[in-house]
Amino acid sequence: MPAAADDVRRLVPGPREPAAVQVLRFMRDEPGYTAELHARHGDVFHIRIERRRWVVLADPEHVKQLFTTPPDVVHAGDANEILRPVLGPHSVLVLDEGEHLRQRRLLLPQFHGERLAAWRSEMERVAAEQVRRMPPGRPFSLRPHLTAIALEVILQVVLGTRGAEEHDRLAGPVDRLLAFLGRPSALLLPLAAGPDSPLVRRQLAPRLAPVDRELYRLIAERRAAGDLTQRTDVLSLLLGARDEDGTPMTDAELRDELVTLIVAGHETTATALAWAFERLTRDPGRLARLETEAAAGTERTYAEAVFREALRLRPVLNNVLRTVVRPVEIGGTRFPPGVVLAPSILLIHRRPEVYPEPQAFRPERWLGQSPGTYTWIPFGGGTRRCIGAAFAQMEMEVVLHAIARAVRLEPVGAPERPVARFITASPERGGEVRIAA
Ligand code: HEM
Repeated sequence: MPAAADDVRRLVPGPREPAAVQVLRFMRDEPGYTAELHARHGDVFHIRIERRRWVVLADPEHVKQLFTTPPDVVHAGDANEILRPVLGPHSVLVLDEGEHLRQRRLLLPQFHGERLAAWRSEMERVAAEQVRRMPPGRPFSLRPHLTAIALEVILQVVLGTRGAEEHDRLAGPVDRLLAFLGRPSALLLPLAAGPDSPLVRRQLAPRLAPVDRELYRLIAERRAAGDLTQRTDVLSLLLGARDEDGTPMTDAELRDELVTLIVAGHETTATALAWAFERLTRDPGRLARLETEAAAGTERTYAEAVFREALRLRPVLNNVLRTVVRPVEIGGTRFPPGVVLAPSILLIHRRPEVYPEPQAFRPERWLGQSPGTYTWIPFGGGTRRCIGAAFAQMEMEVVLHAIARAVRLEPVGAPERPVARFITASPERGGEVRIAA
């Protein structure tokens, strides 16, 4: 760690317990531990979580300052380095400044406006088909069903998979990679040894190789097919893209962008939906309200309020990260290069002056109320805000309706605690439910 970065202990308060204790407590119960540190140290505090020390930000005003800081002063790509072994060095998530902007400009239009609207009916079809596979009469976890929906949708959008054969070739390897990353131990090695350690590469190789093989095969097939201009998937668009000097993207660049969209674009959405049902099934009156809206099929307002509230109370990612590369002042403190600034989505979303009774799941708080840019940040913000935010919100609304229209779900067992699955916070049993008779 650069000496300057370690100086944060002189700049902001934080826990005194040994680093190992901090890591352990954070991994066991991030919401409880960060809430305790917030109460003890205030809106800005440091914490040792990985090889680097984070400065956690819990004041929306500070988050605004950070999200509007130019991308040559703070880097998100550097801060996301833990993702590099899986996503690759060309991923939009791990790039910064000019290179990042170039990839982002290519990808963003795919997930907005008319292109986005065109995917709605496909999402509806995939969701309705999956609901029919949910077992009647016995407890089951929603997450695998929600993941299957989101994976099928993202594979179609990103790769343009046509037919079961193309889909199955990739779905199996991607599922196995995600299942491996979902284990609690998956982050330990990259956190301890660093993302570029050969040990990390060796550990990941057997899971990554089948995904890469299929992706490179698909890239080669698509390059040869010659029907790019008639296709609307992201891969075809990227294959046709050219740099200012006319250079096309290399296969390695294409692979990294595709893996990024597939990985970033399906477990996140599935986890958000699992949380929505985990909360909603414990609240029959509100579930009934969603069912009524879904049955009528004319409004989307309540579904929107449900996923906004689920993402507020149980954000899929608890933090976003930025590394300081040039000195920057946030909240009156000047941070030197090397410091990792971590807006806490969790703490921002639980500020009582913004969200009265912050621990309560109350979708009604969103009716007639738009989310604040710096007080509702499940998708991060600024020039790094999630590329798939609009896409994910449409998908959540479609899937909430599709399920609420087709079945009445009941909760099974106690309320579920958040547990870490790779970098996401997921309900411990994946949203365990039963279909009511
Ligand atoms: C509920 C679902 C989702 C959640 C909660 C979520 C959350 C996030 C967050 C917190 C970030 C980091 C933002 C920052 O650093 O400020 C992010 C980035 C990103 N997300 Fe999502 N995401 C979701 C769905 C998706 C989907 C569906 C896609 C793809 C279609 C996607 C693609 C990306 C990409 C490419 C980035 C990197 C953006 C950049 O660095 O410029 N995400 N997401």
